Amino acid sequence: MQNKPIIYLDNAATSWPKPPSVIEAMERSMRESAANPGRGSHAMAVKASRVLFEARKKLARLFRVNNPNDIAFALNTTHALNLAIQGLLKPGDHVITTSLEHNSVRRPLEALKRKLGIEVTYVQTDAKGLLNVKDVEASIKSNTKLIAVSHSSNLLGTITPVSDIGEIARRRKVKLLVDAAQSAGVLPIDVEAMGIDLLAFPGHKGLLGPQGTGGLYIHPELELEPLMHGGTGSKSEAPEQPLVRPDRYEAGTQNTVGMAGLSEGISYILKETPEVIHAKEQQLTYELMEGLQRIPGVTLLGPEVGVERTAIVSFLLEGVDPSEMAFLLDQQFGIAVRAGFHCTPLGHETAGSFETGAVRASPGYFTEKSEIVSMIAAVKEISDTLKNNK
Ligand code: ALA
Repeated sequence: MQNKPIIYLDNAATSWPKPPSVIEAMERSMRESAANPGRGSHAMAVKASRVLFEARKKLARLFRVNNPNDIAFALNTTHALNLAIQGLLKPGDHVITTSLEHNSVRRPLEALKRKLGIEVTYVQTDAKGLLNVKDVEASIKSNTKLIAVSHSSNLLGTITPVSDIGEIARRRKVKLLVDAAQSAGVLPIDVEAMGIDLLAFPGHKGLLGPQGTGGLYIHPELELEPLMHGGTGSKSEAPEQPLVRPDRYEAGTQNTVGMAGLSEGISYILKETPEVIHAKEQQLTYELMEGLQRIPGVTLLGPEVGVERTAIVSFLLEGVDPSEMAFLLDQQFGIAVRAGFHCTPLGHETAGSFETGAVRASPGYFTEKSEIVSMIAAVKEISDTLKNNK
C-alpha cells in the first residue's frame, strides 16, 4: 500500500487508500480500452464491453446473484436507491423503513409521499440503533409494498438482521430493499438466502473501487420502471426502453474506466473475503472504542464493545463542538474524520444527538493499529488542553 500522508478514518464516506491494482486497472483502461461499451463492434469497443461484463460477473459472485445481468450499474448508492424506490412504488403503496435511515432512503420516500401520496412508516429502533424485527412485521398493512432498510447504520455501525426481515418479507409477500452502503464488501451478502429483492450498493466504499461506481441488484421477477430513458446500444429502432437487462436500467454511456477499477477492487475483496475484512475492521473498531471511552467526557453512540458492528465509531467530547473536533484532528494531527449529521438526521434523532451532531471515525481494511493509537492520543490531548484552559 502507498505511503499515507494522513491518518484516514473516513472510510464510511469513501474508502481510501485503494489497492494499487485498482489504480493500475483504471490507467490501463484509459490507455487501452476506453471506447464506448456496447455501442460498436470494433475491437476496442468489445474490449470496453468486456470490462463491464467482468465487473458484473464478479459482483454476482460476491452477492450470490445467479444472473449477472440482474445487476444494473449506477453512479452510487443514492442513484441505485432512487432507481429502486422510484421504479417500484405506485400511488397508494405503503413502505416500511427505519429510524436509522440515510437521507438517500428517506428523501426519495418523502418525495414520493408528496408526489404520489405513498405512505411511509418509520419503525423506531432503540437509542443504540438496535431494531426489533417484530416491530417491522407489526407495521405491515394490506397495502405494504416494500420494506427498505440499511444493512448497517452509517452513524452507529449497527447491523440490521436482514435475513430475519427477508423471511418476514417473503412470508408476507412484501418486497425487501437493502441499502448496503456500509456493508457491501464487508459483511457477507447472499441475496437469495437473505430474501433480498433489491440490493443497492456503492463501488467506492467497501468494494474499494473509485467514486462514480455502484449498482442495484434487481430480482429477476421484479420489474422496475427505469429512472432514465435513452440510448442503450440495443433495440435502437424501438421508441421505448428495451426490456432486456441490464440495458433497461443503463441508459447512456457507462463508466468503463471506473468499472475497470471496481472490478479489481472486487477481485481484492473476493481474495481476502468479507469475513476476514470484517473481523479485522471490527477489532480495530473495538480498540478505538475502548480507547475513546477511557477519556473523561467522551460519549460513544451506538452499541457497546462486543456487539457486532461495522467499522463506525461516532462520539462526542463534552465541551467541544463536533466540527471543532474534526477541524482540530485534521489541522493539528493530520487525522481525517467526518463531523456533523452524516446525512442521517433520523439516525441522530434516534441516538439523541440531533442537537449536536457527532464526530464519526471510520477505520478501513488498510487502517493500522498505530493509527488507532494516534487517534485516541489526539482526542486525549484535545480533552486535556480543554481541561487545562478552563
Ligand atoms: N453516506 C456517506 C457517509 O455516511 C457519504 O458519510
